Parts: sequence; C-alpha cells; structure tokens
Amino acid sequence: MFYNDLPKPFFVMAPMDDVTDTVFRQIVASCAPPDLFFTEFVNVDGLQSPGRPHLLKKLQNTDKERPLIAQLWGLKPENFYEVSKQIVSGEFGEFAGIDLNMGCPAKGEVQNGACSALMNNRELAAEIIQATQQGAAGVLPVSVKTRLGFHEIDPTWHEFLLQFKLNMLTIHGRTKREMSKVPAHWDEIGKVRELRDALSPETLLVGNGDVTSHAHGLELASQYRLDGIMVGRGIFHDPFLFAVNSPWQDQSKQQRIELYTKHVKLFANTWQHGEHPVHVLNKFCKIYINGFDGAKEMREQLMAAKNTDELLHLLASEV
Ligand SMILES: Cc1cc2nc3c(=O)[nH]c(=O)nc-3n(C[C@H](O)[C@H](O)[C@H](O)COP(=O)(O)O)c2cc1C
Repeated sequence: MFYNDLPKPFFVMAPMDDVTDTVFRQIVASCAPPDLFFTEFVNVDGLQSPGRPHLLKKLQNTDKERPLIAQLWGLKPENFYEVSKQIVSGEFGEFAGIDLNMGCPAKGEVQNGACSALMNNRELAAEIIQATQQGAAGVLPVSVKTRLGFHEIDPTWHEFLLQFKLNMLTIHGRTKREMSKVPAHWDEIGKVRELRDALSPETLLVGNGDVTSHAHGLELASQYRLDGIMVGRGIFHDPFLFAVNSPWQDQSKQQRIELYTKHVKLFANTWQHGEHPVHVLNKFCKIYINGFDGAKEMREQLMAAKNTDELLHLLASEV
C-alpha cells in the first residue's frame, strides 16, 4: 500500500473544484510536488448517467501527478460501487486510492443530501462507505474528507467514521455552518487524532485548514501529532508551497510570467476541444502575475484576452 511509503508528516494538495485539475496539478508538480494529490470531486451519479463524458475531464490525469487519489461524491451507493470498480480497473488512469467527500458545504450539494449533509444521514453515509470499500475490493485504499461537524463540533461523527477502518481521514477544521468564515480549529483536529488513536490506530489522520507554508504545516503536524497536512488555498499565494524552502518570494517578474506562460500552454494543449473557456484561466492569473510593479494593470489586460493564442501573445510581449 503506497500509504506505507509516505513520509511523516506527508503533505497533500487539497481537492479544489475547478482549480486542481490535471493542468494545475502538473504545474504544482513541476514547482514542488506534494506527497499526495487529489482530483477535484466528481459526482458518481453523473458519471453513471448520460452526462458522463462531460465529467470525465475531472478524472483526467498524467504520470506527473502521482500518487493521485480520486475524490467522489454523490447519493447512490450503487453508483459509488460501480465507479469504484471502474477506478480499480484502471480505465481512468492510475489511481492510488478513492476518497469520499463528506464535507462540502455548498448549498446545492447539501440540499440534495450529499457531502456534508451525510453527517446527518449516517445510514446513507455507511452505505456509501461500504459500497466504495466493496467496489475498491481491497485493491485501493478508501478514505474520507470531512469537517468537524454540521452545526456544531460533533465527535460522534468522527467516532462513526472511524468504525469503518478507513485508510485515511482528513479533517478540515471547521463545521459546515462555519463554511470558511472563521479560522480553522486545529486544537479540535488534535482531538480527532486522539479519537483515532483510541478507535482506529491504522487510519492516517490528516489536518486541513489555513496552512500557509511548508514550515507552518510541519509545526501543526508536530503540535497535534498528525500523519499528514493538506493544503488548499495556500497554493494561491505560493505555487512552490510544498518546497521545504520556497523560492517564490525571490522570483522575478520574468520568472513569474514564464510560469504563467507554461500554465497557459499546458491548458491549451490539454483542453483542445473547448472543454474549458479561456476565462477559466483568470482565477490563476493572480497567482503568477503578482508581486511586481504594474502587476495589476498587466492582469487586467491578460484577463481580457479572448483565447489562449492572444493570451500567450500578450505574455510574450512582457518578457
Ligand atoms: C475553490 C475551492 C474548491 C474546493 N473544492 C473542493 C472539492 O472538490 N473537494 C473537497 O473535498 N474540498 C474542496 N474544497 C475545500 C478544500 O479542499 C479545503 O478543505 C479548504 O479550502 C480548506 O483548506 P485551505 O484553508 O488549505 O484552503 C474546495 C475549496 C476551494 C477554495
């Protein structure tokens, strides 16, 4: 099992929908790879419907993003079973494991009864975990990513999850109600680690929320005795965040433009059939075109580009 080969603590790049696709994962891997990657969450009910071709891009991957965990969400246990079997079969590429999203607080998903709403429907949560474990058939590890609770911090939820002998449990240190509005409660993540020690010592415990650098992650892992640290939005401020010593602060305007150019070229080569419109790149522009005089004006110009050729032309004129 690849989990045995991970360093302690290990660093995980968080799943972020419409952000951490194969293109961005490859860029991060080229800067400073984490120990573990996640896909964006992908809906199993959609994958087992006529909408499947549209969703497959969320599972697209290359050998540069390894090890890679597929993150799933949905409602129907039979679809978790089928999709897990498909992942095991290798038809989507090489995956190291399957993760179940039980933490997303988005209105649509919660009203449907999926993701964080599963904290309030443990019967269905159990069926989903068991269906996935059966589909993964002991071949791939199964993990869960969740929060501290729904309205309130709720240790009974973590106790419940730890019965399933998950390979890994990731805790985002906020409740569903808190969305992302308050600082992550790392002390509460530490309490879940204590529960893990008592109930399922084999389950790796990963903490997540507001980590800003590799050193910050190491500090939290040591303080709360965690196996791993997951980082999401921190990467927006430093694409080299997973490096022990990030060079990002010292990178010149030219280096930053070159990195964005690399991202745009990879985007253009990967999505050749209009899978994503060019404006999808705008959310990445601020990562790179930042930290030098005139960056704001340059971003405004770049964000108005109508296609990747125009964007690349503008970038080339700046170096
Ligand atoms: C734009 C965006 C998309 C996200 N999409 C997902 C997702 O697909 N699956 C998931 O489990 N969490 C998702 N999250 C939550 C992150 O994985 C992470 O738990 C959260 O951002 C807190 O970590 P951070 O403070 O390091 O960003 C998303 C967060 C953001 C900001």
